[in-house]
Amino acid sequence: MSETSRRATKAVIPAAGNATRFLPVTKSVPKELLPIVDKPVLQYIVEEAAEAGADDVLLVTARGKDSMVDYFDSRFDLEEALAAKGKDDALESIRAPERTAEIHAVRQGGALGLGHAVGRGAAHVGDEPFAVLLGDEFCHLDDKLLPRMIELQAETGGIVLALMEVPREDVSRWGIASVDATDDDDVVEVTGMVEKPAVDQAPSNLSLIGRYVLPGSIFPVLHDTPPGRGGEIQLTDAMDTMRAKGTPVHGVIFRGRRYDTGEPAAYLQTIVELASERDDLPGFNAWLREFGATLD
Ligand code: G1P
Repeated sequence: MSETSRRATKAVIPAAGNATRFLPVTKSVPKELLPIVDKPVLQYIVEEAAEAGADDVLLVTARGKDSMVDYFDSRFDLEEALAAKGKDDALESIRAPERTAEIHAVRQGGALGLGHAVGRGAAHVGDEPFAVLLGDEFCHLDDKLLPRMIELQAETGGIVLALMEVPREDVSRWGIASVDATDDDDVVEVTGMVEKPAVDQAPSNLSLIGRYVLPGSIFPVLHDTPPGRGGEIQLTDAMDTMRAKGTPVHGVIFRGRRYDTGEPAAYLQTIVELASERDDLPGFNAWLREFGATLD
């Protein structure tokens, strides 16, 4: 089967970072397991991958973060205790993670950059197309992005990115792409990309958000990519090398709800927003309204 007709069924989730913005809690709790009320951020991300058909998930982890893998394993003792007490909802909730996806793990073995972390997926992924989902953001499950990206990647056989407009003054926080329009309103052709450019050197205000669908042919390119911005091996640089050598690169413009959990204030907003949508937190919205009024 040719690469252009295969759909990505594997996902790589880089999750080896130290999360210094969340210290001291991340001294012993992986950032990826911080809860959105009662469900870890990582479960949202794994669900996003699985719902898009990429339910073979490789976590790229680090020393001290094995609890991420434990989270997706069975807890027979707890299951028995909950079953004995007839706590069916709780029982279902603890079984959900292991049923969502098939979880694999590999250690990154050094904080050498996002490109290096993704490159650690080479042996598991092989030459198949695969999705990459960064661990500090996720899309609302109703605002589908990844299925569209996977479909487009299967059509082109190239690289598919997710892009979002950001304020000009913030461009140096992200990878930024230059683009040409296509006939599809939500798809652009990427003509270049640069990692965290200075504001006056940014080719646009379209930022790469943390979702990628890549061909397996990126692994040797990642292997040969020298350290770039910040002295780290950058995924952006490897993708741009492939683009320059003729690999088609497209961007899907995401206009849906995206939740940032990568820094404390945004994480807190994510919790409040998603908590406000739940109907099992009695009194929360009423309290939120009242509390909001006290801030005026
Ligand atoms: C990474 C990528 C960057 C991208 C960002 C999205 O940066 O290198 O191109 O825009 O994720 O979240 P990081 O946030 O890991 O510094």
